[in-house]
Amino acid sequence: MITLRTARPGDLDAVLAFWQVAAENDNRPADSATAPENLLARDPEALVLALDDDTVVGSVIAGFDGWRYHLYRLSVAPGHRRQGIATALLEHAENRFRALGATRSDAMVLDENVTAQSAWWARGYRVQEDWSRWIKPL
Ligand SMILES: CC(C)(COP(=O)(O)OP(=O)(O)OC[C@H]1O[C@@H](n2cnc3c(N)ncnc32)[C@H](O)[C@@H]1OP(=O)(O)O)[C@@H](O)C(=O)NCCC(=O)NCCS
Repeated sequence: MITLRTARPGDLDAVLAFWQVAAENDNRPADSATAPENLLARDPEALVLALDDDTVVGSVIAGFDGWRYHLYRLSVAPGHRRQGIATALLEHAENRFRALGATRSDAMVLDENVTAQSAWWARGYRVQEDWSRWIKPL
């Protein structure tokens, strides 16, 4: 049975291994072990997991920085896709955001990630054509 819950510090090694096989890893910095630790220390409710018994099969980061409501690392294990797990994770994340006062949530999606675009579209997300992401390495 699939259950959802927020991640605990003891989950993080499994989450990092899960992201290696399940997440979108192109065109982004590699995950570091400290990044999810820092996330949980700052916001213990932000990392939401889907579990099949005790195995991590899905994740989303529902990040609120005090201003905007961002979704990151939406991913589902290859053997568990098309079963509604991403839908359930996004519903959980959006409910969290609403409880925090959000009127809008957003996600970054690679232009070539057609599968992900289908999932975001199905959940009601649309491309904002008149904005681009600007970055600077620090
Ligand atoms: C994108 C991803 C998270 C979707 O997870 P999922 O649990 O399979 O998604 P769901 O089962 O909740 O699908 C919801 C809807 O999204 C759409 N969708 C999902 N996968 C799709 C696919 N491969 N092709 C077409 N539509 C798809 C469908 O409309 C689907 O509804 P349906 O199954 O009733 O037709 C998963 O494919 C994944 O982990 N991909 C690799 C990581 C990734 O790219 N993450 C997104 C980064 S922005």
